[in-house]
Amino acid sequence: MTKRAHRLAVLVSGSGTLLEHMISEGLPIDRVIADKPCQGLRLAEDADISQETFYREYWGWDTSRKWDDQPGFNREGFSVAIANCLSDRKITIAAMAGFMTILSPKFFSVFEGVLINIHPALLPAFKGEKAVQDALDAGVKITGTTIHVATPELDAGPIIEQEAVRVMDDDTVDSLHERIKQVERPLYAGVLRELLDETRILPPH
Ligand code: GRF
Repeated sequence: MTKRAHRLAVLVSGSGTLLEHMISEGLPIDRVIADKPCQGLRLAEDADISQETFYREYWGWDTSRKWDDQPGFNREGFSVAIANCLSDRKITIAAMAGFMTILSPKFFSVFEGVLINIHPALLPAFKGEKAVQDALDAGVKITGTTIHVATPELDAGPIIEQEAVRVMDDDTVDSLHERIKQVERPLYAGVLRELLDETRILPPH
């Protein structure tokens, strides 16, 4: 058997429907990493993919505070632990699929592979955690999804792929996000497949 050039990890925090699609498409996923117990981990277990959880509470995450209000969180310690895990497992491509902890800049100096993110908006519009809500609030008629190389600056790395989604007059955050995810599932799996096969070249980063 020929040796694969790449080893893929997927980072999740939530429902894991993008991961579920990658699994159903037969993407060779070496490891699933989560920051809390979640459905994504259960999907990995069912598919016999090795998994690891980095509990944010261990690094001082306060579950009673909001996502963007975590003064006691040792983000660097958390980020370096994940970077070391990816390096130890010789992961070359790490794909965030709804991973909800921002990694510190130090992550990028420890992990030598490529970190990829998918964001539910057409970047550079609507960066941040509330992208779908922000698009609705802005009254845009078109939003979408962006796959990009993750860099120390949030939602700002070089764009790999984008696809548009029309906003309907009666959309709620949930209905619009689900239509965006319907686009994201095949798009992300396809892009990752091409990166693994080296039929797609990453933008300079
Ligand atoms: C996706 O919309 C992705 O763009 C965002 O998180 C969502 C993940 O969805 N970063 P799921 O947990 O895979 O259902």
